[in-house]
Amino acid sequence: MTNLPKLPAHVAIIMDGNGRWARQHALSVMRGHRQGVEALREIIRYSSDIGIQVLSLYAFSTENWSRPEAEVAALMRLIVEFFHSEIDELHQNQVRIRILGDVDGLTQPARQAVLQATERTAQNTGLQLNIALNYGAHSEMLRAVRLLLAEVQSGALRPDQVDLGSISQRLYTAGQPQVDLLIRTSGEQRLSNFLLFQSAYAELLFPDILWPDFTVAHYKEALATYGGRDRRFGGRKA
Ligand code: FPP
Repeated sequence: MTNLPKLPAHVAIIMDGNGRWARQHALSVMRGHRQGVEALREIIRYSSDIGIQVLSLYAFSTENWSRPEAEVAALMRLIVEFFHSEIDELHQNQVRIRILGDVDGLTQPARQAVLQATERTAQNTGLQLNIALNYGAHSEMLRAVRLLLAEVQSGALRPDQVDLGSISQRLYTAGQPQVDLLIRTSGEQRLSNFLLFQSAYAELLFPDILWPDFTVAHYKEALATYGGRDRRFGGRKA
C-alpha cells in the first residue's frame, strides 16, 4: 500500500516510444514492443495494488493499421500472447478487463483472446483495466452519435433527453469516471485521438522517458505530481 496524498480515480496512458527504444538499443521494433509489455505488466500490477479504480492503456489505435504489415501482424500476435500469459494473474487479482475500440476489426485470434479475457473477468471487483485496441476517439464519438440517433429515430429517446450523460453512456467507457490523469511517455506532447471526450479535465503529464524504460518509480512520481496539482475544473478557488 502507499501513502500517496490524492490518487486519481482514472489514469490513462499513451505508451509511446517503443520504436525509439528499440533503435537506441539496435534491436528490432518488435523487441521494443516486447519490452513495452514488460513495463505495462508492472504498471498494471502497481495500479491494482494501490487501488487505482480505472487504468486505460492505448495499445493499438485505428491509425496504427497504416504501419508496416509485418509490425501490425506481430503486434496482434503480441496482444494474443499477452492475454494468454497474463490472464490468470489478472483474474486472481480481481482485475476486470474491458476493451475500448472496435473488436470486430481485430484479427480473429486477437478478437477471440480479448473476448475470452473480457468474459472471464467480467464479475471481478478490483482494478478496471481498459485496453484500447483498434480505438480512436473520433470513431468512438461518431459511434455514440449514431447510437443516439437510432434511439431517437425508434422513439426510445426524445431529442431533448439527449445530454452529456447520454453521450457519456454510449462511449466505450460507459459507467466509468472521467480521466483524472493522462500520461504520455517519450516526451511527445499530443493526445493522438485518445479518450478526447473523457479527458476534458484531465491533468496531462509528458515524461521524457521511452515507454519500455517507464518504471513504477516514474509512475509514482507522476502520481505525486498529480497529487500536488490544483484542479479547478474551470471554477475558482476561494
Ligand atoms: C508506441 O510506440 C506503442 C504502440 C503503438 C503499441 C503499444 C503496445 C504495447 C506496449 C504492447 C502491446 C499491448 C498489449 C496490451 C499487449 P511506437 O512504436 O509508436 O514508438 P516510437 O514512436 O518510438 O516509434
